[in-house]
Amino acid sequence: MAHVFVAGALVGYGVARARRRARAGGDDAGDVDDAPRATKTDDDAPKKRPIVVYMDGCFDTMHYGHANALRQARACGDKLLVGVVNDAEIRRCKGPPVCDERERVEAVEACKWVDGVITDVPYEVTDAFTDELFAKHEVDYVIHGDDPCLLPDGSDAYAYPKRIGRYKEIKRTEGVSTTDIVGRLLRMGARAAGEEVKEEEAKEATFCTTSARIAQFGTNAGVPTDAKVVYVHGAFDVFNRGHIDLLRQAKTRGDFVLVGVHADAEVRARRGAEHPVLNEKERALSVLACRYADEVVIGAPAMITNDLLTTFNVKVVIAEDDEPYAVGGVDVNALAVERGLYERVPRRHDCSVLGVAKRIMENRAEFEARNARKTKSESAYYAEKKHVAES
Ligand code: CTP
Repeated sequence: MAHVFVAGALVGYGVARARRRARAGGDDAGDVDDAPRATKTDDDAPKKRPIVVYMDGCFDTMHYGHANALRQARACGDKLLVGVVNDAEIRRCKGPPVCDERERVEAVEACKWVDGVITDVPYEVTDAFTDELFAKHEVDYVIHGDDPCLLPDGSDAYAYPKRIGRYKEIKRTEGVSTTDIVGRLLRMGARAAGEEVKEEEAKEATFCTTSARIAQFGTNAGVPTDAKVVYVHGAFDVFNRGHIDLLRQAKTRGDFVLVGVHADAEVRARRGAEHPVLNEKERALSVLACRYADEVVIGAPAMITNDLLTTFNVKVVIAEDDEPYAVGGVDVNALAVERGLYERVPRRHDCSVLGVAKRIMENRAEFEARNARKTKSESAYYAEKKHVAES
């Protein structure tokens, strides 16, 4: 199986040490605490070796729960390497993925806490694969959320790194999951097809957004005085490669990307009662986790106002070719156009919430079966969950 190392940020240190530890592997859980953190240079000054941590996963319909897992994993070391499980393995172990491997890899790469990505990894963290992580990628610890990760035969996918003491756990983010988002999209698809969705199935978002969480995701820097501020606004619902590309393009137009995440009421008024799938705080967190976004306005108005342009010292407003729309008969970007601040950028990916919902509805039976299974195990997890502190 091929493992492609996408980002090159993790080379050049501790190879001998990693090999030694890989050889030592299996026999001693104490190896973790033994791991030297320094090597000697010629002038005898101790030089710290970065701790490399590894987290893998499916990262399907990548959401802020995944981003928060990556944030916590990154805080367990100095460099975070992420393994993205391939489509065939997801199908075998969990059921059909919503997003294909290329989309999932792009979403992980765009996360600001990620230093490198390995593609095409197996679901099971086997002895051979774990040894390869230690030796080839110089990984110190394997990290996973505190939810059980079981193989189809019921065994623990992380048994080996646990056994040898090279495993750390982070707290899973409550209230969001791929299952939950797929459930919301299934209900959207069913309603769009004219079906009646029972109230008890129409689960509200349960994620509790705290100011601490927003601060952890944000830069805490504010808009720098002399920065060329680029403003880009929209719903950013079910964050996807189209959004990532738009933010990437925004970053090339200035120094600071300010993202207006439209208020729920605005999105509902424009797109209909089933929208948005994620509320404005959930959508803002996904945007903030993206390496191309510097700051968000949570619950931004759809209409660009003089106040908004002046408050944030906006120099450029960008939108994709086909994006402008009107509120009350007025183009939402009219003021930016009038002031000469408006720039259009190409739409390079045809992604939309409805497009994702359509994929799910096309394989509805499979997704419903997968969700029924996952909902059962998620309920069991919530019934038995214990407090785990965040890093
Ligand atoms: N994760 C998390 N919080 C969530 C969802 C996922 O901390 N709400 C963590 C998982 O524990 C894992 C990593 O994110 O360490 C990747 O998860 P993934 O393999 O994508 O699968 P799931 O755990 O099934 O996530 P989801 O239910 O959202 O598909």
